[in-house]
Amino acid sequence: MACQIIKVNLKKPQKKIIQMAAEIIKKGGLVAFPTETVYGLGANGLDKKAIKKIFKAKRRPQDNPLILHIADLKDLFKLAKKVPKEAQTLVQKFWPGPLTIVLFKRKSIPNEVSANRDTVAIRMPRNKIAQELIKASGVPIAAPSANLAGRPSPTSAKDVFEDLGRETDLILDGGKTKIGIESTVIDLTVKPPLILRPGAISIEELKKFLPNIKLHPFLIGKKLKEKTLKSPGMKYKHYAPKAPLILIQGNLKEKIEKFQNLISFYKKQKKGVGIMVSKETKKFLKNGKVNLILGSQKNLKEIARNLFNALRQFDRKKIDIILCESFPEKEIGFAIMYRLKKAASKIV
Ligand code: TXA
Ligand code: MG
Repeated sequence: MACQIIKVNLKKPQKKIIQMAAEIIKKGGLVAFPTETVYGLGANGLDKKAIKKIFKAKRRPQDNPLILHIADLKDLFKLAKKVPKEAQTLVQKFWPGPLTIVLFKRKSIPNEVSANRDTVAIRMPRNKIAQELIKASGVPIAAPSANLAGRPSPTSAKDVFEDLGRETDLILDGGKTKIGIESTVIDLTVKPPLILRPGAISIEELKKFLPNIKLHPFLIGKKLKEKTLKSPGMKYKHYAPKAPLILIQGNLKEKIEKFQNLISFYKKQKKGVGIMVSKETKKFLKNGKVNLILGSQKNLKEIARNLFNALRQFDRKKIDIILCESFPEKEIGFAIMYRLKKAASKIV
């Protein structure tokens, strides 16, 4: 049976609705809720059975651990075995917000959450609905992005319903998410600290507070043995739309030339071409069958906000191939490109 979607006031979440959602969490059910990054599929993070439901609903590989979401700093100390100085520095600056830290875990955390590792990922979201839900539930909430494994993360309640409407007990609709891509994941169990997943908070920003922080070698193109992959999420194909995506690189002139050639090539083959570009580049292009403008090149945050929504829109239309522009790999652009490269079947 399809689940209920309830609209919630983002600034002042209605107590009754939050209470109802919290009851579902306490009873071991699944509640999808908005965070400032993407929607999460939440369950009681201390309830093994409930956590197993998350894996089943998402068809998530068993070896990919979950993030525990908290609303009170005290809980960080209850979940982590040790909270190093670096962790305190980062959470002071970035929590609540789109930052996830990996620390050694306490024994009380079920192995189901951490996929049998001795570490746990923790985040304090800024979204008020998320915060109120965690507080009312009285437990840390385990929540991966609320999409089927491998699909683009959901940035609206409709996206969640599309993927997990039958498996979820309730979806809290807090509108379109503000940031649109997931949190940055940092491993603080190693020295120097490593970024495991680039996200909303950029490496440039993080370096101001942890000058020695590094990107995991896998993120800069090094091929590593599976054993050395710190974050299992790294090895899976992710964010993939249904139609193959070609990522187009180069300066503006080169990009436009490649676009034009590919648009003509696929149109001749009677293929439906979807185009995903900035408004600046679109001005120079012939039309595809579906044209989606991600935003302005001058505002990479806007591009990030619209990225997953664009990929999902192509899935809803009849498109055979997606042509997407590449963006500068600075600030949040690095996180955008990380996702686009994972989504791409070809880079030209
Ligand atoms: O913005 C976000 O982080 C969203 C919202 C809902 O909070 N959540 C999210 O969760 O993106 P998920 O499960 O889709 O991605 C979590 C990432 C995965 O790449 C996973 O491998 C990594 O974090 N991760 C979780 N626990 C870990 C651990 N103990 N060690 C290393 N990586 C871990
Ligand atoms: Mg995910």
